[in-house]
Amino acid sequence: MKITMKHIFKSYDKAEVIRDLNLELEDQAFTTLLGPSGCGKTTILRMIAGLENPTGGEIFFDDVCVFSSEKKINVPPEKRNIGFVFQDFALWPHLSVFENVAFGLRARKDTADLEKRVMEALAAVQLSDFRNRYPSQLSGGQQQRVGFARAIVTKPDCILFDEPLSALDAILRDEMRVEIKRLTGEMGVTAVFVTHDQMEAMSMSDRIIVLNQGLIEQEGAPEDIYQKPATPFTAKFIGKSNWLGNQAMFRPEAASLKKTEGCRTYPAVVTGVQFLGENYQLFLDADGKQWTMESPEKYQTGTNVSVYINEDKIVTFQ
Ligand SMILES: Nc1ncnc2c1ncn2[C@@H]1O[C@H](COP(=O)(O)OP(=O)(O)OP(=O)(O)O)[C@@H](O)[C@H]1O
Ligand SMILES: [Mg+2]
Repeated sequence: MKITMKHIFKSYDKAEVIRDLNLELEDQAFTTLLGPSGCGKTTILRMIAGLENPTGGEIFFDDVCVFSSEKKINVPPEKRNIGFVFQDFALWPHLSVFENVAFGLRARKDTADLEKRVMEALAAVQLSDFRNRYPSQLSGGQQQRVGFARAIVTKPDCILFDEPLSALDAILRDEMRVEIKRLTGEMGVTAVFVTHDQMEAMSMSDRIIVLNQGLIEQEGAPEDIYQKPATPFTAKFIGKSNWLGNQAMFRPEAASLKKTEGCRTYPAVVTGVQFLGENYQLFLDADGKQWTMESPEKYQTGTNVSVYINEDKIVTFQ
């Protein structure tokens, strides 16, 4: 299912949060909304789900209008066939795992084959053996899996994820990324994912939409956003950026400390070194500019070096 938001405005009281947003979320794609805290990511998801009404504009699911302020259309959340996975899991503490997953089906009186459907959803997230447990008896990762099972049990056309992994530790987060990506792919749903974590966004997404103060700053494939940031904001917000003045930057891997032909050369001083495992991360001062890059060799703080920057990899902004 393709989701289209047209000329969406949203104010809370008098504060305008979203102003004339136009957004397209492709059918069956995994799209991530990425942007600073308070830029309106949760608000956008809630408007898609029907949990929040835009102040103006229209929302379409394929060709069907589900919200229009002008035409007075507002399809209620339970009729939009959307799954929602929340950051804080939002499970019912007094209900078992089984009943938490069954809740949405019971609420809409869609109880044919209930047992089978709930158990299928639990099997998909590898929680078949946990059906009788209560949320307080589960780890954070298991609780989030219940949240995911609850979102897929209704066979939604689209699943919205609002920072679902931020409460989990790094290893679990990696596992869940792979699992979410696999399951949404197998189900063929349209996935909309919100995160603060740019690595998460780059590793999971078919498409990234960078938001800044309620507006789209840039959208594209992760590789394009990283290699060809359209604005200084995107360059700074996603990945590490080293600046040559205000309007030109390069990514750390465009630089080398080995003499390379056809490169721009800058003198710099090593101001810090961190061991990363395979490489060392170097912090450099290049005539007052603070850069960072990786190097297979260790350098002592205070060492004078020459930095060779691949000309083709320098991104300039007008
Ligand atoms: N119910 C509400 N009443 C008033 N203001 C609200 C309400 N919900 C959100 N806001 C405001 O709208 C703006 C956008 O909030 P939103 O929760 O969409 O941001 P976000 O991008 O999800 O941020 P975060 O990354 O911190 O979760 C913020 O300035 C917030 O204070
Ligand atoms: Mg949010």
